[in-house]
Amino acid sequence: MRGLVCKMCGYVSLSEVESQCPVCKAKDVFQMKEDAYNYKMLDIEKIANETEKKHIPVFTIVKKCDLIPESECLDVHVKIGEVTHPMLSEHCITEITFYVNNKFVENVMFTPNIINAATVIHLKGDIIGKVQVIGNCNLHGKWFNEVCIK
Ligand SMILES: [Fe+2]
Repeated sequence: MRGLVCKMCGYVSLSEVESQCPVCKAKDVFQMKEDAYNYKMLDIEKIANETEKKHIPVFTIVKKCDLIPESECLDVHVKIGEVTHPMLSEHCITEITFYVNNKFVENVMFTPNIINAATVIHLKGDIIGKVQVIGNCNLHGKWFNEVCIK
């Protein structure tokens, strides 16, 4: 899928224009790439091949977790792969980037052998639109998926 990519850190922008990278803070470093990330809308259990089943992010939405008890929250759990991705030094998910309505909101870096290929973002409860995720595999590249939140 076509997208702007930071030449310094590899962050993929889902916006049309980007001047400063929100992850590494470098300025004027974006270049358009035709293969910025893998994107496939599908019924993951029926259509995906084995590589896709290990890399396409999968969502679970939890409405209330009580981590922030004084505020409504919407927690979007993300796991990399319907078949959970390995987390070995030689083959692992290095990071997961979160976007809300195409804007960067969070980047989570992973350490292999300790962390599972999964994380959660704690959104404020009144956010509406789409949460998008790009997970990066050190061998198989970047994989996108999105989910509607209401
Ligand atoms: Fe992989």
